[in-house]
Amino acid sequence: MHAKKVPPTLLLLGIKAAAAAQCGLIPTPNTTLVSSPGQVAAIPAWDLASSAAAGSDLAALSRTGVDTSAWHHINSSRCTLMGCLIESGVYNDSNIFYSSNIFNVDKTQFSVPWLYRKEFLLPSPSAGKHYFLQTNGITSRADIFLNGKQVVDKSIQQGAYGGHEYEITSMADQTNALVVRAYPTSYYYDFAVGWVDWNPWPADSGTGVWRDVNVKQTGSVALGPLRVVTQMGAALGSQPANVTLKAKARNLESTAVTITAAGSIAAESGEQLSWNQTITLPPLSTTDIVLTTTVAKPAIWWPAQWGDQPLYNANLSVSVDSALSDFAAGKFGFRTVTSKVNQFNDTLFTVNGQPFQVLGAGYAPDMFLRWDSAKFEAEVKYMLDLGFNTVRLEGKNEHAELYEVADRLGLMVMPGWECCDKWEAWSYNSDLAVPTPVWSDADYATADASMQHEAAMMQTHPSILVYLVGSDYWPDDRAAAIYDKALKAADWQAPVICSAAKSGYSPLFGPSGLKMDGPYDWVPPNYWYDIEPSDSRLGAAFGFGSEQGAGVGTPELSSLQRFLSPSDLDDLWRNPNKNLSHMSAETSYFHNRTIYNAGLWKRYGAPTSLEDYLTKAQMMDYEATRSEYEGFASMWNARRPATGVIYWMLNGAFPSLHWSLWDYYMHPAGAYFGAKVGARMEHVAYDYLHKAVYLINHALDKKGARNVGIEVVDTAGKTTYNTTVAVQTTPNTSKSIAPLTAALDNAKDVVFLRLVLTDEKGAVLSRNVYWLSKTLDTLDWDASEWYYTPVTKYADYTALNKLAAANVTAAVGGSGDGLKIVLENHSSVPAFFISLNLVDRHGQDVVPLTWSDNYVTLWPKEKLELTATQMTLGKGEEVKPAAVQIVGKNVVKSVVTL
Ligand SMILES: *[C@@H]1O[C@H](CO)[C@@H](O)[C@H](O)[C@H]1NC(C)=O
Ligand SMILES: *[C@@H]1O[C@H](CO)[C@@H](O)[C@H](O)[C@H]1NC(C)=O
Ligand SMILES: *[C@@H]1O[C@H](CO)[C@@H](O)[C@H](O)[C@H]1NC(C)=O
Ligand SMILES: *[C@@H]1O[C@H](CO)[C@@H](O)[C@H](O)[C@H]1NC(C)=O
Ligand SMILES: *[C@@H]1O[C@H](CO)[C@@H](O)[C@H](O)[C@H]1NC(C)=O
Ligand SMILES: *[C@@H]1O[C@H](CO)[C@@H](O)[C@H](O)[C@H]1NC(C)=O
Ligand SMILES: *[C@@H]1O[C@H](CO)[C@@H](O)[C@H](O)[C@H]1NC(C)=O
Ligand SMILES: *[C@@H]1O[C@H](CO)[C@@H](O)[C@H](O)[C@H]1NC(C)=O
Ligand SMILES: *[C@@H]1O[C@H](CO)[C@@H](O)[C@H](O)[C@H]1NC(C)=O
Repeated sequence: MHAKKVPPTLLLLGIKAAAAAQCGLIPTPNTTLVSSPGQVAAIPAWDLASSAAAGSDLAALSRTGVDTSAWHHINSSRCTLMGCLIESGVYNDSNIFYSSNIFNVDKTQFSVPWLYRKEFLLPSPSAGKHYFLQTNGITSRADIFLNGKQVVDKSIQQGAYGGHEYEITSMADQTNALVVRAYPTSYYYDFAVGWVDWNPWPADSGTGVWRDVNVKQTGSVALGPLRVVTQMGAALGSQPANVTLKAKARNLESTAVTITAAGSIAAESGEQLSWNQTITLPPLSTTDIVLTTTVAKPAIWWPAQWGDQPLYNANLSVSVDSALSDFAAGKFGFRTVTSKVNQFNDTLFTVNGQPFQVLGAGYAPDMFLRWDSAKFEAEVKYMLDLGFNTVRLEGKNEHAELYEVADRLGLMVMPGWECCDKWEAWSYNSDLAVPTPVWSDADYATADASMQHEAAMMQTHPSILVYLVGSDYWPDDRAAAIYDKALKAADWQAPVICSAAKSGYSPLFGPSGLKMDGPYDWVPPNYWYDIEPSDSRLGAAFGFGSEQGAGVGTPELSSLQRFLSPSDLDDLWRNPNKNLSHMSAETSYFHNRTIYNAGLWKRYGAPTSLEDYLTKAQMMDYEATRSEYEGFASMWNARRPATGVIYWMLNGAFPSLHWSLWDYYMHPAGAYFGAKVGARMEHVAYDYLHKAVYLINHALDKKGARNVGIEVVDTAGKTTYNTTVAVQTTPNTSKSIAPLTAALDNAKDVVFLRLVLTDEKGAVLSRNVYWLSKTLDTLDWDASEWYYTPVTKYADYTALNKLAAANVTAAVGGSGDGLKIVLENHSSVPAFFISLNLVDRHGQDVVPLTWSDNYVTLWPKEKLELTATQMTLGKGEEVKPAAVQIVGKNVVKSVVTL
């Protein structure tokens, strides 16, 4: 298959291609884009053409009435060139993502600038009416023309995050034509949104109007973005809090103007405060408006695991002669975040005064930067289902909508700048793949504009945990000073950390306290517990790991078939070392599964079929993510505490075979359910290396008596160890409760270990089953590379291939919400690694959905109830589930019809 492409030149020769014919002429707008002071509206749609076809006379093209019928017509307010071309039907992403088609997209078409054009109406001009054009970043840089005149050129409008505001009052008319010329992008020479080794690079390198271009109307006085500063007493919630609303007011007239600046804040509960003051602004001046009030009983915003997410609406408005001139509005929440480095120079965060162990993963946007709020909301719900409290965005700050979803659902966000390209072109950065010039004065100016813009976008949001002004490298002193000044000017209240790695740092910010020492490729489950001597054990569970994992995340067959050809599928199990299009970028260390597959072959035995390979892969993935989260959770109160971990990565920018906890089609598999067990709120975990059991409690309000049932059975189902330990659990604390050495010493080959945590009333809080081999994987720490630590001797799990078949039945039913499935093992042997998959009547996966648990192992004669809950994406019809597919390692495939 080949990606379909219509050359844009043909379109302009008057040959009506299908895409253009379908849409026809976009009708001339007959309503004004904005009509009242303070109103902001995005240019809602675009016509798009390559400059190779449309030419470069922007003065002419930005006059009204130009015939753009042969251009591409885009209904979105924002898209990269590839995103736009997919939307307008030139490309089809199902095709692009299939097999290796992605490499067939013609890159040369993007070596020239492209033009985004739109006509729009404004109210008729009159005295005291002002119009502005607001950009939020255009990649890589842009010239902008309105009605035949230049608004700005590419020396100012630079960078994916370079947002600016330009007054266009003198150029604006009732009918307006806007043209944006976006220049080609190099990740090494431009401030873009790059991908390093995450995935193949998009052919357009993300060029274009990927964020909205807005038009704003004001009266004589215009406001900048709203900033909200909160001051809370030590007794959170029960002491009054001060709230200050701030915004820069510009008097746009050449005479002094007297304004009423009014503040209001409104709680969701309905409680409202309004107040105002009168201020006189000198001609053409800028004044910071500062309005403070006191909230008697502030409702405190918490991360989802710890409480509710009450939000307040804030509005700061300015009026002239009782007529509204402009307003700045946003939501905020009362919460505090701090960070400090402890005695080991490891960063420890607190949220609302409570030590906050960060459990999360690294976010990837769509490869073509197509934002979908509903999809992101489902992703956040997945993270919360996993027990995560944080997402890290490495230079992928997306849009304001991301922070709105995070605020509403209670997920902390770690935004920041990205590594490995222009953003970190420091003289001391030795890791850049191509020689990249160090920053010029103009680059520092772009960085400044970018920091100011992002700080303004994020400042009010309670979900912000920190801003990382560097990733792999720390900013040089000049950039550090610029970032610091921009953040302070934005009244930034969250911590700022200079990089995500333990390396150098700028004195302004101090040591980062975050480590970036790998691994990124496969390591065995005991890796995380190998914490002594701490300084030589890289990614093991001590300190704060800012991006690390065993590189897992294999999709199941239903997803694989959507993007792999039959021969690609064959390669998975017949050519274990082959380079693959759906791994990391072709230039990276992660373009094949050699390291992972070496472990799979040796530990689980050579696969006998694709199905067998995928079952073993899900076992590898499950073990890997469970032990990473359990390792960090267990070591929260260790001598050298594990203060946080960000798994690398959360999701994929395209259909990928690895580095994600669910696949591109939102289907959760082994890596997901391993992580879900590993990050459980109240949990019992097994330390593979020291053969110890840990009691974990991430909650602030759960305490008291607990029982931990510990049972070991062999492959024949014979119980070889069985005990119950009575313990006390303490909020936000982990501790070792029982050594298991004796219990496992006599194991013949593989045994199963089941840990069950119950509360005072016997309710199960956590049920956790391991398969354990007689000997551990042996790590050669001294031979570690930046991306993994090699194994010299593998654990032997091949006995699992010889398990006697187990007879498991599944019954639908049970009370409460969601779909209940009761599994029952009728055999005297364990039923190992049973997965359930909900499908519709066409056999297609029902996603997104949550399962209370999945990829489960049943004890002989055990019964287990699982619940599936479908998530609505807020658009289209909900898919109706029709059946559950059930299969296990020693359980024959079956289907339960609903
Ligand atoms: C604007 O045009 C649309 C058709 O394009 C028409 O349905 C609508 O009534 C018009 N509105 C006004 C205010 O003229
Ligand atoms: C854009 O919107 C118009 C009008 O709603 C519709 O007819 C057209 O199909 C849309 N085009 C695309 C590419 O979605
Ligand atoms: C894209 O291609 C796939 C597979 O060839 C097809 O099923 C789908 O309908 C196409 N989508 C569009 C929007 O044309
Ligand atoms: C609120 O502001 C007042 C006046 O400046 C100050 O006395 C008080 O301590 C502040 N409250 C808090 C919680 O900081
Ligand atoms: C300013 O506050 C006063 C006193 O509360 C109120 O009467 C007046 O309406 C307010 N003015 C504005 C413009 O909000
Ligand atoms: C922590 O960092 C500081 C500043 O770089 C350094 O002086 C100190 O030795 C470090 N302490 C440890 C325990 O690494
Ligand atoms: C697999 O990737 C590694 C690391 O980049 C590389 O050294 C090796 O040559 C690759 N294997 C093949 C078969 O190309
Ligand atoms: C294991 O011990 C529990 C009580 O601690 C008991 O209920 C259970 O029957 C025992 N299992 C076996 C197989 O002996
Ligand atoms: C599995 O167990 C169920 C319930 O005891 C029984 O009805 C069924 O026949 C068994 N199936 C097989 C294949 O043994």
